[in-house]
Amino acid sequence: MPEKENQPPANSPSNSNPESTKPKRRGPPRSKKPAAGKSKKVEDSSVKQKKPDAVTTDRSVPQKQDNAQPPKRTQKQPQRAPERKKPHHDQAGSVRDLAKLKGVRPIVALTAYDSVMSRLVCDAGVDFILVGDSVGTTLLGHKTTIPVDMTDMLRHTAAVRRAEPNCLLVADLPFGEASFSFDHLLDSARRLMQQGGADAIKIEGGRDVADDIEKLVATGIPVLGHIGLLPQTVKAIGGYRKFGADRQEAEDLYTDAIALEEAGCFAVVGEMIEESVARELAKQILPPLIGIGSGAGCDGQILVSTDVLGYHVNKPPSFVKTYANLNHVISKALSQYVTEVKSKKFPA
Ligand code: KIV
Repeated sequence: MPEKENQPPANSPSNSNPESTKPKRRGPPRSKKPAAGKSKKVEDSSVKQKKPDAVTTDRSVPQKQDNAQPPKRTQKQPQRAPERKKPHHDQAGSVRDLAKLKGVRPIVALTAYDSVMSRLVCDAGVDFILVGDSVGTTLLGHKTTIPVDMTDMLRHTAAVRRAEPNCLLVADLPFGEASFSFDHLLDSARRLMQQGGADAIKIEGGRDVADDIEKLVATGIPVLGHIGLLPQTVKAIGGYRKFGADRQEAEDLYTDAIALEEAGCFAVVGEMIEESVARELAKQILPPLIGIGSGAGCDGQILVSTDVLGYHVNKPPSFVKTYANLNHVISKALSQYVTEVKSKKFPA
């Protein structure tokens, strides 16, 4: 997560009347359609299509007899690669799998920035890994995600891909990349997929980026949307805070979410959205709403892996549940090593 100082406590009193901020669906009813399947051109190569049975035109091909024996193998069988750990049986392997999980079970995701964490996070059973630009604040020592650029994102995405995770891999589009021109955006998205090995990309923003997202999706680039707190806009919004506390902001979130749905996003991240608003949004939109600091009403949850593991310099936001204290484990081990070298206990 980026800078934490201006974040409100998880139980922010700003949502004094949750009912009044509930967005209402406007406009004509939309037909249920899989979000990831909006564009006819989007082909998800990881979804295995059943090939039609081959039509045998050569009628002289002998039919298999009931008592026919399989031919004896004379050649040495090629060595098989060692079995890799299989994905959990219900782990999403594609954007279509992920979109279909809405209403079935909560979707779960974590960030990863290197090969070690990629393997661990994937083997834990997440549905997707996000190589977030949060790498800037979590590992690279920046105060915000703004300094993170394409070089950083390509390096970290490729490192995560090299661990060959079995789940979906989404890479963040860094600050500014969506603002030049559509061609520039397309090129950056293409590089994250071709050079980084991402399966999909994440773009921060709502209505403002929806048209470009629609064109990316039509080109075959699956896009994960991101609304609510947009860490890349922190300089403009003046700090980190909850979104959707008043009616106008709740309506804006709803309009943004619908714009992303209509643009063809396969899912939408909702960061630091008032719980009652996020719950209502999740009900209203067709793609899954993946929450971070937005409460239990979302279709899934994503957290920053270093926050979850207690491996950080800055204190994680209050909505994070920390499942380990790696800072402590690492400090203890490193001090022991230093002590043992100084006291000539190691090497023995
Ligand atoms: O960069 C990131 O890690 C993110 C998550 C917080 C969703 O955008």
